[in-house]
Amino acid sequence: MNAMNEAISKIGVVPVIKLNHPERDAAALGKALCAGGVPVAEITFRAAGADMAIKLMKEANPDMIVGAGTVTTTEQIDAAKAAGAQFIVTPGFDAELVEYSLKQGLPIYPGCTTPTDYHAALKFGLEVLKFFPAEQSGGLAKIKAMSAPFPQFKVMPTGGVSLKNLKEYLSAPGIAACGGSYMVTADLIDNQKWDEITELCKKSVEIVKEARGNG
Ligand code: 3PG
Repeated sequence: MNAMNEAISKIGVVPVIKLNHPERDAAALGKALCAGGVPVAEITFRAAGADMAIKLMKEANPDMIVGAGTVTTTEQIDAAKAAGAQFIVTPGFDAELVEYSLKQGLPIYPGCTTPTDYHAALKFGLEVLKFFPAEQSGGLAKIKAMSAPFPQFKVMPTGGVSLKNLKEYLSAPGIAACGGSYMVTADLIDNQKWDEITELCKKSVEIVKEARGNG
């Protein structure tokens, strides 16, 4: 796996973040994630100012891996790159975005859940795909069925992942990491519950270790 894939896999969980007040919260949220042992963030373009959030989180936490999520246009890739984003995540498979992102030197994790998506991803030599929305698309059973014809991919299941099913996902073969918003919900962020976020991250890290047999 390439260096970014390795680094994200090692952490094991990727918080999926919608930040409504980047100037107020980005730096502190990054610190809370790092304090919990989860130095990675996918900041989604669902909220205006996502690029500013990426910039502020990264500047305040230079050792963190900060990427952009819910990217649907090449303009957003440009904005994410200018802000210092280190990876791109898209909800579905869009060949134009995959090609564009790779040309910019940015790793991209497109949302893929069907054999057709996986075929498309093969053409770009991708190693890790976002499996989204994971639970709603058939969860682990589907991930396992898809890995039979496509053993070359690892996936990042996202959508419906929580502390309840994290261990089950991470214990299965072919899982690079799990994405989720359970440790960065709107309530936790908008009410600046940084300690709770740190605790949820710590619990997640424990589960990552248990699932991988080094807990
Ligand atoms: C995403 O965009 O990746 C999802 O909204 C995250 O899904 P979750 O909120 O169910 O974790």
